[in-house]
Amino acid sequence: TAKRGASGDLAGRRVVVSAGGTREPLDPVRFLGNRSSGKQGVAIAAAAAARGAAVTLVAAHLEVAAPDGVSLVETGTALELEAAMTDAAASADIVVMAAAVADYRPDQVRDAKIKKDQQGETLELVLVKNPDVLAGLAAARRDGQVIVGFAAETEADRDALLAIGRDKIARKGADLLVINRVGWAQGFATDGNDVVVVNRSGDIVSEASGSKTSVADRILDAILALD
Ligand code: CTP
Ligand code: CA
Repeated sequence: TAKRGASGDLAGRRVVVSAGGTREPLDPVRFLGNRSSGKQGVAIAAAAAARGAAVTLVAAHLEVAAPDGVSLVETGTALELEAAMTDAAASADIVVMAAAVADYRPDQVRDAKIKKDQQGETLELVLVKNPDVLAGLAAARRDGQVIVGFAAETEADRDALLAIGRDKIARKGADLLVINRVGWAQGFATDGNDVVVVNRSGDIVSEASGSKTSVADRILDAILALD
């Protein structure tokens, strides 16, 4: 497997990574969000840059600082992230969708704050589906471009977890899918991670656990091993 370091095994490659979690506004003071910290995506961007790649980081509400030496594009909503990724992917060799993209957004963004005294004891929100950014990028894939997705799953059983991942990579049309187990205390906002990487055939091509930095390098190794 490739080793990180001066060899710069990603020199000359253009890598775009999305990281963080989108926020979907509800009114001027509220949003629907998720618990993604952006740490794993940021670690991938940093590792790719350290290995010589030209990196664009498409960020959504990172809880950690963006690394030095990458080109940063800040986004907020799923639709903004889609536009930024579509733009950056047009000239990328490797595309990694590590961001947690909201599956749905409020059907309308109110101009004024929602007031309790105008509601009853319950408040119903109507949400509309966001586009699947990863599937769109995979469908528009350029020749030789590698598209990598993530799957954060709460399934505890390993075989069931793999089955979900295999189904997901097939649906998305990605080349690799990084499956990680998440729960209330696992995966999100933590410094370590535990992942299984599957290819389009559903084969396990890599398994890694440890710091998000070391996991990032193993994911990049798996990408390079596709060539
Ligand atoms: N993803 C995306 N656009 C969306 C939703 C997800 O690009 N609207 C990407 C994520 O960045 C990730 C992959 O798709 O790389 C899998 O996301 P995940 O939430 O696990 O899958 P979903 O297809 O949204 O299915 P579900 O949440 O129902 O499991
Ligand atoms: Ca989802």
